[in-house]
Amino acid sequence: MKAKQGVVDLLNKILTEELTVINQYFLHAKMCKNWGYDRLFHHVQSRSYSEMKDAESIIDHILYLEGLPNMQRLGTVKVGETVPEQLKADLQKEKDMVKLLSDSIVHCTKVGDFTTRHMLEDMVTDEDEHIDWIETQLETIKQVGLENYLSEQIKKEE
Ligand SMILES: [Fe+2]
Ligand SMILES: [Fe+2]
Repeated sequence: MKAKQGVVDLLNKILTEELTVINQYFLHAKMCKNWGYDRLFHHVQSRSYSEMKDAESIIDHILYLEGLPNMQRLGTVKVGETVPEQLKADLQKEKDMVKLLSDSIVHCTKVGDFTTRHMLEDMVTDEDEHIDWIETQLETIKQVGLENYLSEQIKKEE
C-alpha cells in the first residue's frame, strides 16, 4: 500500500527514537543488574523489550507502506550514572516519544491515514504506562528515601 504524504518520514523518525531507547534502557537495565538491583533490572529490561516490539511494528508498517525502514540512525543515548539519574533520563525519553507520537497522530489524521494513526495511538498508551511507572518510582524515592528504595530492589534470597 502506498503511503500518504510524510507518513514514512515520521515513522522513520519514530523508529530512530525507538532504536535509541532500546539501547538506553537495555544499558540501564544491565547497570542495575551489575549493582545488584535485580528487581529494577527486570523492570527496565522488560521496558527495553517492549520498545523492541514497537520498533518491530514500525518496521513492519513502513514495509507495508512500501517505504524503507532506516536502521542506520540513532539518537543520543543518555546514560544515568545513578538509579535516579537513569529514571530521569528515561522519563525524558518517554515524554519526548509521547510528543513525537502525538504530533504524528495529528499528521496522520490530516492526511487521512487512519491505519497508521490507530497503531500510533496504541503505542501512546504503552508509553503513558512507562511514564506512569517511572513517575511512581521517583515519587517513592522522594517518600521513602533512596536507600530504602534501593534496598527493596535487591533480590531477596528465597
Ligand atoms: Fe516505544
Ligand atoms: Fe516507552
